[in-house]
Amino acid sequence: MTNAISDLLASAEAQLPAFQRLVAGIPYERKGIPNSEMFFLWLCAQAVRPKRILESGRARGQSTLVLARCFPEAEIISVEHDPASPDVVVAAERLKGEANVRLLFGDATRLLPKVAQPGDIALVDGPKGFRGVRFALALLASERLPMVFVHDAGPQTAERDFFEQYLRGVRYSDEPDIVRVSHELDDEEAMEIPPANRFAAVSGRPGYGYGLACLAHEPGAGYSLLRIRAALAGLASRFAK
Ligand SMILES: C[S@@+](CC[C@H](N)C(=O)[O-])C[C@H]1O[C@@H](n2cnc3c(N)ncnc32)[C@H](O)[C@@H]1O
Repeated sequence: MTNAISDLLASAEAQLPAFQRLVAGIPYERKGIPNSEMFFLWLCAQAVRPKRILESGRARGQSTLVLARCFPEAEIISVEHDPASPDVVVAAERLKGEANVRLLFGDATRLLPKVAQPGDIALVDGPKGFRGVRFALALLASERLPMVFVHDAGPQTAERDFFEQYLRGVRYSDEPDIVRVSHELDDEEAMEIPPANRFAAVSGRPGYGYGLACLAHEPGAGYSLLRIRAALAGLASRFAK
C-alpha cells in the first residue's frame, strides 16, 4: 500500500482542483484541521477507498464537515468526548444537513473499537499526544483498519520521533513536496497556524502546519508491543517537560 500512497501523493498537484471543488464554500471553524492536511488525508485515503471513516475528536466539526463533503459515498462516524462543550451546538448546526454523518458522544477509545469494521479508516484528533498514538496503534492492532491518521505529529514532537523510530512508511502532511502544492488551501491567519509553522517560515523543510501522520497498516509491525513502547514513550515525554 505504501507504493500506492506515494503515487497518490505524487499526483497532488493534478488533484488539487478536484479537492478545491469539494471544499468550496466551507467556512473555517476554530480548532479545525487545516484544509491542506485534509487534502493530504483525502489523497492517501484514495489508496483504500473507505466505506466508513471513524473520527475521534469532533469539537466544532471542521474536519467532520470536510470529511462529509470529500467522501460523499462514505459514512462518517464522529465521536466527541465532551457533550457539555459549547462546541457541540456549533458542530450540530454545521453538520445538520449532512446525510452521511453520524454524531456520537463518548470516549472514542472505547466506542470506536466496538464499531470498527474491516476497511474502515480513522482520524484521531483527540485524545492528543501519546494517548492518541496508543489509540491509533490499537486500531491498527485490530487488523481491521488499513489506515489511521494522527493529528499534531509535527517534526518537533515526541510522537513524530516515535513514529520515525518504530514504523516504516509513515507519511506526513508537512512533507515539503506536498506542502508546496497544498499550502494554498489554507488561510494561515484564520487557521491560527503558528508563525513558525507557516509556509514562509519553513521554506522547504518539514514542519508546515500541525502535522498529520498517515499510518498505513504494516503486516508484522507488532502493534501490541508498539502500544507498550508508546505508553513508555508517553511517560518519558511527560517527565521530560
Ligand atoms: C482539536 S479538537 C478536534 C477538532 C476537529 N477534529 C476539527 O477539525 O474541527 C479535539 C477534540 O477531541 C475531543 N476528545 C479528546 N479526547 C477524546 C476522546 N477520548 N474521545 C473523543 N473525543 C475526544 C476533545 O473534547 C476536543 O473536542
